[in-house]
Amino acid sequence: MRRPLIAGNWKLHKTLAEARQLAAQLAEKSRGIDDRDIMVAPVYTALTTVSEVVQGSAIQLAAQNCYPQETGAFTGEVSPLLLKDAGCSAVIIGHSERRQLMAENDAFINLKLLKTLESGLQAILCIGETLQERENDQMLDVLSRQVKGGLAGLSAEQMESVVIAYEPVWAIGTGVTASNEQAQEAHSFIRGLLQGLFTPEIAAQTRILYGGSVKPNNVDGLMAQDDIDGALVGGASLNAEDFLRIVKFSS
Ligand code: 13P
Repeated sequence: MRRPLIAGNWKLHKTLAEARQLAAQLAEKSRGIDDRDIMVAPVYTALTTVSEVVQGSAIQLAAQNCYPQETGAFTGEVSPLLLKDAGCSAVIIGHSERRQLMAENDAFINLKLLKTLESGLQAILCIGETLQERENDQMLDVLSRQVKGGLAGLSAEQMESVVIAYEPVWAIGTGVTASNEQAQEAHSFIRGLLQGLFTPEIAAQTRILYGGSVKPNNVDGLMAQDDIDGALVGGASLNAEDFLRIVKFSS
């Protein structure tokens, strides 16, 4: 009932020429795939180029960040409205790299999420504990705080445009993937939180992606878990062959 979503977060990678080439390969080789959603999130400067390349294909476009104002004196920022104008249908919000490197907190992330939904885009809310938090038995508290803080003030209707990505910080870019069991445990806990915050229906329909060293050789096991509805892929999304293998997971 939940349509799988495989999203590639290109982070700070790819020149325009490289982005164009990767997007063209993905558009070409994903033809005919219609039972799952496929998304890529290039850097801001490549959005319009990639948008043109993937037009009419199965590939959807997302941005990696946004600012929670439509227009105004906000030097260096980009709003959901302008991301939509550039061809995006979604925005990644609250990635752990932004939480850590740019000191983004749950309240600011919540503002971005609300503005993104108001602009008619989907929001992919990233959450996840650090290694230290996991080792100190704080994982459930951290996930709970991030889910409640990130989704504060949302209506059940708005939740239809929200995807959650569980990305344990210790698994990002490290080659250490959460085990299938660890990932399922976290996803099931997050779904339980949604049930308490909203309704059983919302909890059952919300897609929860796993992110953190997802590779061609571990995606099938992860996707076989009951509460894992897709993947948010970093490193392995930079290569067409690897990403397409992940897109074509079998569970
Ligand atoms: P890696 O797949 O490189 O671990 O990155 C995951 C991630 O941060 C996706 O947003």
